This record gives sequence, C-alpha cells and structure tokens, in this order.
Amino acid sequence: MVSKKRFRWLLSVAGAGILALSPSACSGGDGSAQGDGGGLTRIGFVAVGPEGAWRQANEANIQETFTKDAGFELKYAPATNLDQKSQIDAFTSFVDEGVDVILLSATEGSGWEDSLKRAQEAEIPVILIDRGIEPDATDLYVTRIAPDNFKVSSAVAEWALKTFPQGGNYFVLEGPAGVSVVNERNRGWNETIGAKTEFKKLGAQTANWSTEEAKSVFETVLKSNKNDVQLVFAQNDEMGLGAVLAAEEAGLVPGKDVKIATIDGTRGALEALAAGKLSFVAEYNPLFGQTALEVVKKVLAGESVDSYIVVPSLTFDSPEAAKAALPERKF
Ligand code: AHR
Repeated sequence: MVSKKRFRWLLSVAGAGILALSPSACSGGDGSAQGDGGGLTRIGFVAVGPEGAWRQANEANIQETFTKDAGFELKYAPATNLDQKSQIDAFTSFVDEGVDVILLSATEGSGWEDSLKRAQEAEIPVILIDRGIEPDATDLYVTRIAPDNFKVSSAVAEWALKTFPQGGNYFVLEGPAGVSVVNERNRGWNETIGAKTEFKKLGAQTANWSTEEAKSVFETVLKSNKNDVQLVFAQNDEMGLGAVLAAEEAGLVPGKDVKIATIDGTRGALEALAAGKLSFVAEYNPLFGQTALEVVKKVLAGESVDSYIVVPSLTFDSPEAAKAALPERKF
C-alpha cells in the first residue's frame, strides 16, 4: 500500500501529464494544505540568512506568507555565516523530523545531491527558492521559484549596448564563486555583449555581494586603468553602490564619467538611480512568498508544477522611472 506521503511525492515529481488528485485525497478536504499532526503543514526553510537587502526582503516575505493562519508551521533555518555545512545539517534535521516540504535557498550551487536524495527517499518534496543547484538535477527537486537570471542579466547587457553604441571599457563585479545565480548572470551578460568587439572587458572579480568589498575592488580597477572605465556591471545592488563610492573617491562623476548598472532593484539602488549615481537597475523580484505557498499547496495536492517557475521582474533605466517606483516600493 503506497503511503499518502509516498503517493504525493510520486505525483509531485512525476512532472507534467499526471492526473491531479482531488484535493481531499491529500489535504484537509478544502484544498488547504494539511500536514500530519496539529493540522498545520510543516515547512522546513533552509535559508541563507543575513546577506543583504535582497535576502532580507526575500526571507521576510517567505516567513510572513507561511503563517499558522495560512495553515503552515514554517521552521526557519538560516545558514551560519553563509556556511553550506550548516545548511546541509539543517536540511538533514528537517528530513529526520519528517517535515512535509523543504524550501531550499542554497548558499552553494553544488554539493546537494546526497541531501536531495535523502529527501527523496523520505518522500519529502524539495522546492528551490531563488538559487539553483549545479549540476542541475530536476528529478531531485520539484521546482525552482526565481526570476530568470539569464534574462535579467541580458537586459542589463542590452541596456549597455544601447547606451554605448561605440562600446567602451567595462568591469564586472561578481557575486561569490560557486553560486548558481552568478554563473547564470555571467552567461546572460556574456551571450549578449561578450562578442561585441567595441566593448573591452577589463576584468571580473567577486566582491561577495558587499558594498565595502566592491568599493575596494573598484578602487584598484580605477587606479590600474587610470580611471579609463566607462561601464560597470555589478551583479547586485550593494556592489554597485560600492562602485559608486570608489568612482566618487577617484574624482569621477558616477552616471556621467562611469555608468554603473546593477541587479536586484532594492530601495537603496532605486534611490541611487533617482539621484543619477546608478544608471540602470534590473529588478530581481524577491517577493514571491505567495507564489511559493500556492506551489506548496499544489504539490501537496498531488498536482503537477513546472520545473522552473519564473518570477516576473522589472527594469529601471532612468531617474524618472526610479522616482515613480519609490513611493510604493516594498523592498
Ligand atoms: O541569489 C540572489 C542574490 O543573492 C541577489 O542578487 C543578491 O543581492 C543576494 O545576495
């Protein structure tokens, strides 16, 4: 006899084309997700923890969505100092505890196969939040929910092509090595601008999502290139703001002498764009808690879901666009 949980698991990872169970077969009858024990669906959230404004917005939104009133008991497990081992330990404890679903925002792209297999053996569906895993193994998780990093970084590159018809010298401030979104953002940028001979890549270096580290890195870049840098692609807002500080300290006018483009779209970046210090901001929308909740309910009801659920994101290309967005900005 296939257990209810096993049956749910088989259905949720079987992918498209499966029959949807009637909600009562795997839930509280009203389609609401019901877990074992206490009537609440238990979610183990293996999270990144403190990392910057984007992460704060994303993880707060997830926790504010999966509430007891919504029928969930969410256990939040942030990494210790971004350490993957602490995440793997939390993941393992959620499997041993027998939670109903695990949400995973991975600090590292690789090294997850054993954990994901354990969850599979325990028939616990895993949903990737934001970060992918490498090599990708779509049979080991149900879906990934995130904006499309390739499209987001391609939008930055398209803006650069339009803004610099004659090309120019550019530098890339990357997130940490080994993080899936960094590789995806590099691919989107390189496939759009990499072959354009009028653009000269001066280099790329990680600044670990940090304003302070990006300021230090870009100070060195400016010195070694005698300030002859027209464009910076910063893979998140904090690093872009660090490049702004470095440019100003070098006597350059950000937005005029050097244009800095970033990804995330947090309030700080839009304020800098409104002030003309940043030149382009591509949103990587962090507010997808409700989408995640709906996906969890579908999975526990045995319905099929896409293997990658793309979160829509905007772009902002002018001070006017930033000023218009700021009053309603939620992150
Ligand atoms: O994975 C998303 C990235 O992680 C964001 O762009 C960055 O700000 C965060 O630290």
